[in-house]
Amino acid sequence: MDAQELEKIIHKVESKEKFFKKKSLLDTLSYPDKILGREKQTEELVTYLLGYKTGLVVPLISIYGRTGSGKSTIVKFVCDNLKDVSYCFVNLRKARTIFGFMNLILGELGQPNLKNANGITLLLENIEKTIESKVKSENKKLFVLALDEFDMLFYDKRGKPSDFIYKLLLLEDNLKAKGVLMCIVCISNNVLSEYDLEDRVRSRIGSSEIFFEPYSQKDVKEILQQRASEALDDKIEKDYVLDYCAEKSSLGHGDARRAIDLLRVAAEIAAINGKKITLEDIDLADDKLQQDRIDVILHSASYHLKVTCFAIARLAYLTGEEWLSTFVLYHQYTKLLSKNIKPLTYRRISELLTELENTGLVKSHTMSKGRQGYGTEYKLTFQPSSIGMRCFPELWFAIAKEKFNHDSQTRIKSLHSGVSKSSSMNNMDFLTNNSENLWKNYVENNQSMDL
Ligand SMILES: Nc1ncnc2c1ncn2[C@@H]1O[C@H](COP(=O)(O)OP(=O)(O)O)[C@@H](O)[C@H]1O
Ligand SMILES: [Mg+2]
Repeated sequence: MDAQELEKIIHKVESKEKFFKKKSLLDTLSYPDKILGREKQTEELVTYLLGYKTGLVVPLISIYGRTGSGKSTIVKFVCDNLKDVSYCFVNLRKARTIFGFMNLILGELGQPNLKNANGITLLLENIEKTIESKVKSENKKLFVLALDEFDMLFYDKRGKPSDFIYKLLLLEDNLKAKGVLMCIVCISNNVLSEYDLEDRVRSRIGSSEIFFEPYSQKDVKEILQQRASEALDDKIEKDYVLDYCAEKSSLGHGDARRAIDLLRVAAEIAAINGKKITLEDIDLADDKLQQDRIDVILHSASYHLKVTCFAIARLAYLTGEEWLSTFVLYHQYTKLLSKNIKPLTYRRISELLTELENTGLVKSHTMSKGRQGYGTEYKLTFQPSSIGMRCFPELWFAIAKEKFNHDSQTRIKSLHSGVSKSSSMNNMDFLTNNSENLWKNYVENNQSMDL
């Protein structure tokens, strides 16, 4: 490439950027100057926080609701605008252990991280000192520690949620003794009181809870309209494009984050063509976001998690069954493992399935098994081939090819004779076993697999 070609690229990017009036408003981490609705939740939060005026601050507030219901936005918006409040907003998704979580808090407070060898006591002392000097130097009355994605603590055994909260409550006590008031705000999908917490924590945290009900499709449309006019100067082909965008992102529940993401990606697609956003752009954006999500989840997945995913995708693809029990999946998972790899326990695979559900890749429901009580069944939320292809592409090709041949042969046979149900089942067994052999060969020939 020479300077002239670079110039062309710069020109192309610039003309794409011109499509946007203020692109930063389509970043879901930012929030606009004006928040739509949510007055009730805002009032509840403000009431709890202003308790400091009477010296009565609740130690912990649990903010809960589905994703994209405006929880993080409202907490930041309120804390930014309460003039006597100093705050620190920490997303716990980025750590796994108590030490890691505490280090995140320290980092957000603008201090260098500590090493494990320094010990948790020193880490807590540093947090305490920093908060104290921050509140005093800024001349504030209250310090808010907002812990976003608090559910993370409950997904990983190393998180020890009770211990973590207990340590923070002690920190609150220490600060109070020094004349600094503090309040912890936990933001999560489920209400904190429903989680399994130790009594010593439960008795301290009280029940200051604020629920964010999911947005309706109409709410999402209004949020989209506001963003489209501020960020895109209304470069929307017709008003119903936003309705469609709101509808697509409200299939499960109204999710403002998904809606804004969809609008941003659709706008990027439209910008390339230099045209207003159309329904097709929304569809294309939806496909792209789905693929991106699968990539992100599977990119960081362990080998065993990938095999578990592959097990679901493979069974769903070959048998056409959507819902699969933990028992069936575990059996499939062990069959898919190469001989030289020790399978994880049944319990661990159950945990991995819960982890997969938390990522949104699968859904679960509880099924009655008659006298044997209840069991959980899982279903992919994406097409089996999008998952299978991304876990182990070559193997998925082999399975798809095998299924194609099998389906064509069955079709030819049925044209000649009319196939009975039982013989088609036998064919399915043959196919399933055959694919297992393919898998074994694949694993044995791929020593470099990411273990
Ligand atoms: N009431 C609202 N008014 C304007 N924008 C909103 C509103 N609620 C949510 N948003 C936007 O939707 C996106 C997702 O909201 P967020 O607060 O991250 O949801 P949650 O934390 O519940 O998952 C953000 O970009 C946010 O700015
Ligand atoms: Mg959030």
